[in-house]
Amino acid sequence: MDKKITEIRENFEKDISAVSSLKELEEVRIKYLSRKGLVPSLFEEFKTLPKEEKPKYGKLFNELKNSVQNEFNAKKTTLESSSGTAARKLDISLPGRRKKLGSKHILTQTTEEIKNIFKGLGFSVFEGPEIESDHYNFEMLNFPPDHPARDMQDTFFINEKFLMRTHTSPVQIRLMEKVKPPLRAIMPGRVFRNEAISAKSYCLFHQVEGLYVDTDVTFAELKGTLIQFAKNFFGKNVKYRFRPSFFPFTEPSAEVDIWWEPKGKEGRWLEILGCGMVDPNVLNNVNIDSEKYTGYAFGMGIERMTMLKYGINDIRVFFDNDNRFLEQF
Ligand code: PHE
Repeated sequence: MDKKITEIRENFEKDISAVSSLKELEEVRIKYLSRKGLVPSLFEEFKTLPKEEKPKYGKLFNELKNSVQNEFNAKKTTLESSSGTAARKLDISLPGRRKKLGSKHILTQTTEEIKNIFKGLGFSVFEGPEIESDHYNFEMLNFPPDHPARDMQDTFFINEKFLMRTHTSPVQIRLMEKVKPPLRAIMPGRVFRNEAISAKSYCLFHQVEGLYVDTDVTFAELKGTLIQFAKNFFGKNVKYRFRPSFFPFTEPSAEVDIWWEPKGKEGRWLEILGCGMVDPNVLNNVNIDSEKYTGYAFGMGIERMTMLKYGINDIRVFFDNDNRFLEQF
């Protein structure tokens, strides 16, 4: 019996050290450890031993069984972690998984570009609320009580007194109430209009307002600043024109058009902004002496400018949140 134990142990050592794959290891397991393997068969023989020998061989069998099992386990772990399956799953030559990076909305990018140009021209940035009072949105801006812009057609009214601002011009008033001249700022933000939605107009869009108030501010400075801006934004060779216009809060007033000629199509003038010299009534409304100070103001549509710059022909795409559009910028 002792000889048999030694034989099994020696053969097992030989077999296990020759193993080089999980498949071979499995063969060793079947030979020694499976239900009909060599080790369990010893325990079958154990039953037939004389009673006095049982304690001795019980101990020897168990020792053999444990050490065979332990060596088997150790070999299995080594095979799995080195040349085994776990290692084969990791192919370091494969390209990595790319995480998709988001980007800023094209309107945000345009707004930042506009802000940067005006910062370079000495303007600071100021903001006001999107829900406004009739007082700031119209009254202080010199709109007569019966002006058509107050009509339900254009304005989203919240109640008698409050509304969604229809332009960023009320922020001019808020700024002039807070800061005494000289002042020079731009005021970006969202505005709202109760208009039929189409490729050309949407119920919501963005504007950048500009205001400069000081002694001796002239219309020539207004023109110079806006021309400089247009060249920076659209390029040196941009074709522009100033056209007389009317706003209740500026006098005289003008609009600026940019020449747009899409490839293969006929060109035409497109309006990008309204501007003018701040009406003396507006200055007086905020207790700025209109005898001493003059100012200019302008308001431009960010969607319009973006459409012109990138050749986009439908304003609604800015608000659809369709990645196929947004990803292009
Ligand atoms: N608020 C005007 C608009 O929304 C634009 C404008 C701003 C015109 C400032 C003159 C001066 O159309």
